[in-house]
Amino acid sequence: MNAKNLIKGRIHYVGVNDRSKHLFEALWPLPGGVSYNSYLIDDEAVTLIDTVDVCYFEVFLEKIRSIIGERPIQYLVINHMEPDHSGSIRLIKHHYPDITIVGNKQTFGMIEGFYGIHDDHFLEVRDNDSLTLGHHTLRFYLTPMVHWPETMMTFDETEGALFSGDAFGCFGTVDGGFLDTRINTDRYRDEMIRYYSNIVGKYGMPVQRALQKLSALDIQIICSTHGPVWTDQRCQVIDLYDRMSRYEADKGVVIAYGSMYGNTEQMAETIAAELSNEGIRDIAMHNVSKTHASYILADIFKYRGLIIGSPTYSGQLYPDVDFLLSRILLREVKGRLLGYFGSYCWASAAAKRLGEFADKSKFQLVGQPVEMKQAITPAVTEQCEQLARNMAAALNAQTIA
Ligand SMILES: Cc1cc2nc3c(=O)[nH]c(=O)nc-3n(C[C@H](O)[C@H](O)[C@H](O)COP(=O)(O)O)c2cc1C
Ligand SMILES: [Fe+2]
Ligand SMILES: [Fe+2]
Repeated sequence: MNAKNLIKGRIHYVGVNDRSKHLFEALWPLPGGVSYNSYLIDDEAVTLIDTVDVCYFEVFLEKIRSIIGERPIQYLVINHMEPDHSGSIRLIKHHYPDITIVGNKQTFGMIEGFYGIHDDHFLEVRDNDSLTLGHHTLRFYLTPMVHWPETMMTFDETEGALFSGDAFGCFGTVDGGFLDTRINTDRYRDEMIRYYSNIVGKYGMPVQRALQKLSALDIQIICSTHGPVWTDQRCQVIDLYDRMSRYEADKGVVIAYGSMYGNTEQMAETIAAELSNEGIRDIAMHNVSKTHASYILADIFKYRGLIIGSPTYSGQLYPDVDFLLSRILLREVKGRLLGYFGSYCWASAAAKRLGEFADKSKFQLVGQPVEMKQAITPAVTEQCEQLARNMAAALNAQTIA
């Protein structure tokens, strides 16, 4: 038996690392790669929890065999059907034809749709159902829309291990070790925020409902489908999810702006300098043409203040600013303090469009929007500084409250 991949008791890690993919979901940059985690419980009834991206099937199968040899797998639990996890179902079934797939009502329609599998080897579970594997007992919790409708979590009552699907997951491969106690986990925190804000972020309420459901469990280990296995740091991870799904954020300001020739950027610099003067320490400035929107969104989930700036471009917002705003609205981010500024040369449109965004977002508008024609002047500088002072005051007032 291969003991290197042991997590606790009879639970083994059989996930894989992807250091080749550039964009997760063909959208989100992966500078540190990503892992697809799967887990094997080597009980009387051998049980596999989720699979991996099909590109890594051979590595996956070898990991499974290094633990159970030629013995069969009895159950395959499917917590989530997104193909980064379900992609190997068909090949697993090919190698283990008698395997029983465990899922909920929503799971099986997707298995048939994606993989053409429809047989009588399905075991349908409902919320709170349990399954005994011998030594271990699994209990299933339906957690719809975290972040797909069929998502569920599986709790191993014997070891206190929660197989949570994408929840509590993050970008970044697991290099060498996968247990939080054996690796430096610093780099994963920001990547958990980026994963959450871009992929799960729209579903704050369903995440809150899931956390509520899990609150009675004595969770010792969190086995998510991406990133490290959380043991000692499990409480911090749950706390982070709780805060993000309530759209709670720290005192700080994101300034996201577009600028072709540097004039709008001067407004952003002026605002940032005055925010700093007013004692705001966390100021995240992003030129939207340079920083990928996924990082800007992560910062918007982190900080309560948001200031957006845009030049007018063909009677519209600057395209990359427009793109960012649509991403923010898509995620239904709540509870931010918003300020904005726009520029133009001959016929202004940016400030008006930003005003429309302010209405749609339902964010609390702070200060007076600033408009600039062509280049910065002492009067515009003063207006930018006033906007910054209003933002700092609003942040401080919230902190005291
Ligand atoms: C392709 C293009 C389209 C533009 N369209 C408009 C426009 O419709 N109305 C306007 O007033 N200015 C327009 N401008 C001018 C810029 O909005 C204006 O010069 C702005 O101050 C540029 O800010 P920046 O120096 O931060 O890039 C356009 C500029 C470019 C390059
Ligand atoms: Fe997913
Ligand atoms: Fe995933």
